[in-house]
Amino acid sequence: MIRSALMNVMTAAALKAGRGLKRDLGEVENLQVSIKGPGDFVSAADRKSEKTLFEELSKARPGYGFVLEESGIIEGADKTHTWYIDPLDGTTNFLHGLPLFAISIGLEREGQMVAGLVYNPASDDMYIAEKGQGAYHNNRRLRVAARRDFSSALIGCGIPHLGKKGHEGFQAEFAAVMARAANLRRLGAAALDLCFVAQGSYDGFWERGLKPWDMAAGLLIIREAGGFVTDADGGADILGTGSICAGNDAIHTQLLALLRSAK
Ligand code: IPD
Ligand code: CA
Ligand code: CA
Ligand code: CA
Repeated sequence: MIRSALMNVMTAAALKAGRGLKRDLGEVENLQVSIKGPGDFVSAADRKSEKTLFEELSKARPGYGFVLEESGIIEGADKTHTWYIDPLDGTTNFLHGLPLFAISIGLEREGQMVAGLVYNPASDDMYIAEKGQGAYHNNRRLRVAARRDFSSALIGCGIPHLGKKGHEGFQAEFAAVMARAANLRRLGAAALDLCFVAQGSYDGFWERGLKPWDMAAGLLIIREAGGFVTDADGGADILGTGSICAGNDAIHTQLLALLRSAK
């Protein structure tokens, strides 16, 4: 594969921020941690990673706007481009020393997601996609799973915390999917979960109560790997509703039907 100049910029920023996260992982006990909301923690590692990504991407692409998890919206002079950034997806895993966390960078151009990158510095797994160019994991082309039989499917999910959108209905959805799938997983880093669909490890995935920075990169990576992605009710407004349902065409359709049956 030939990497575009844009992807080189994104990759360099992620590698730099990732080196910082790896250093911080080695001394988690010394990190300042505060609580933003129920089950939602933020540490000095999240903030440092966000600062690095903001500085590197602003330097390389001056004027682009930002939607940052920890600092909010920063408008740019260029109204056509917006970065969606999760500087540390899976903070709870990170703070517990679980090596399942990632940096997520999505780039939107005129309302369309055109580039996505998800990088786990602990394992050095890099997932990238550009619109129309396919999706890759460490230079290997990605393809969603081919499995169409739901009873042998491994389905990933997220558990919306008490107080989050989707919390009330989660147990019914879990029971409906569990009754039909081979099994379920909840790994705790949504951006990575979406890459696990793209690489065919999960046959399907759903979650509610997410934010645009959790999904911006991953949804493009799944689509470029040939997958189907909608919100968890089958609609198109994934970033707006904060819910997502993904898989190949067959698993996506069956998963949506099970979620609907749980209402
Ligand atoms: C969280 C993770 C988790 C998901 C939560 C997110 P954060 O992101 O993606 O898997 O279930 O809803 O908030 O806060 O660790 O970046
Ligand atoms: Ca968070
Ligand atoms: Ca996140
Ligand atoms: Ca985060």
